Amino acid sequence: MRLVNGEETVCEKRSENRGRKARTGVEQTSPSPALDEAVQSSEPCIVRRPDGQKLRVLSVFGTRPEAIKMAPVITELQRTPEVESRVCVTAQHREMLDQVLELFDIRPDYDLDLMRKNQSLSQLSARVLTMLEPIFGEARPDWILVQGDTTTAALAALAAFYGRVKIGHIEAGLRSHNKWGPYPEEINRRVAGVVADLHFAPTESARRNLLVEGIHGSQIFVTGNTIIDALRLVQLRAWDPSPLRDAIQGLDPQRTKIIIVTAHRRENFGEPIIQICEALRRLANQYGDRVRFFYPVHRNPNISDPVHRLLSRIPNIILSDPLEYLPLVHLMKRSYLVLTDSGGIQEEAPALGIPALVLRDVTERPEAVASGNVRLVGTDPNRIVEEVSRLLDNRSEHKRMAQAANPYGDGHAAKRIVRALCMEKAPKTAPAPHQCPDLVGRVN
Ligand code: UD1
Ligand code: UDP
Repeated sequence: MRLVNGEETVCEKRSENRGRKARTGVEQTSPSPALDEAVQSSEPCIVRRPDGQKLRVLSVFGTRPEAIKMAPVITELQRTPEVESRVCVTAQHREMLDQVLELFDIRPDYDLDLMRKNQSLSQLSARVLTMLEPIFGEARPDWILVQGDTTTAALAALAAFYGRVKIGHIEAGLRSHNKWGPYPEEINRRVAGVVADLHFAPTESARRNLLVEGIHGSQIFVTGNTIIDALRLVQLRAWDPSPLRDAIQGLDPQRTKIIIVTAHRRENFGEPIIQICEALRRLANQYGDRVRFFYPVHRNPNISDPVHRLLSRIPNIILSDPLEYLPLVHLMKRSYLVLTDSGGIQEEAPALGIPALVLRDVTERPEAVASGNVRLVGTDPNRIVEEVSRLLDNRSEHKRMAQAANPYGDGHAAKRIVRALCMEKAPKTAPAPHQCPDLVGRVN
């Protein structure tokens, strides 16, 4: 095993895990065969517009996780000679987005600067729609790419549909089948899916969700999740450990275990975040200097206000500003456990071999639950204390969760996405109607 800064890399961890996949029986990402062949090809893309110009692709995103997951795609678009790549950020997030833009050296062509303190979803949605319209007019993209389930993703997709621009949806097909959890993300992701022309599903089960909803199979590509590409891109980089000073200062790794905590979901506003804090307080008292909680607090005031009020004076709970991505990844690699309601961290933790307890009742990412890396624990303080204690007190239980398979891809998702776009010669806005022989001739 090769070490980078004294730590093993994702790729090597994954290749080590490869042998385990068969044993765990977890379904793996299997990209479409024709596309996979194309991904391996060294031939340049062959798609030219009739006027001989390049394929114009506009990537639109606005929040931290979208930026992290879009970054590998933008890198791939930029190095594809047949593509003219442009970037529009809505800046639904500001500081948290800018951290990622800087890390990946992404310089947006358009910055809508939409973040307002604690703005409502409707206010944000209206501004995404109205401000994107002239940009589509100016950039005249052949495709827009959106990622995931944020309000930026859903509304940018809708704006593109109104502007008759073709839409590629990255991380398509995840479903909790619960309108209120995650809220509003479950419906945001569906909205993007309804208007998308191409669906880049990270896993087979996401592809199946889309098929069940009537999306034609020829419009779906299973690519893996670009978060694994992003992890691979960043972890070989030089990094500045100073943001981790409070997390690791004076730490005896033999005695004290680091537990990372993140939470930000709207369904956890109010009582649930108070309950999460209560669980952390009890665990911090119970385990004393055997644990150190490191909690980079999301900037949403509905989260940051109660978290700072309830946890700021507990010595073994360190609250910090949101961490830059690179130190966060390195801290995750040193941590014993992650407590989170984040979507992205549910995907990263398995890739890094870190157990994750998910502070939610439902998840649209069932693969890592099935593989044993992730466990849903909700927000009841008794349950959280019980599950964390189990992993702290029982090493074999911890080892089992740390060793399971990674179902979210091989780090080549971005390449598959860009290839698929380039191979997509004709617009697929009117797919062939489905054959439903059992409905033919039915009289109500
Ligand atoms: C948003 C997404 C959520 C995603 C999360 C990732 C929606 C509806 N929600 O949630 O799906 O999981 O981002 O983190 O799209 N703020 C700042 N600075 C920042 C970012 C946020 O001050 O850099 C504060 C502002 O007061 C802002 C508030 O947080 O109004 C909420 O931001 P918003 O993007 O609406 O929701 P998130 O909870 O961040
Ligand atoms: N992340 C980060 N700094 C932090 C917390 C999270 O860089 O302080 C990264 C994390 O590693 C993951 C992404 O942000 O890649 C997830 O973002 P978030 O949890 O805000 O959104 P979600 O994935 O739930 O939509």
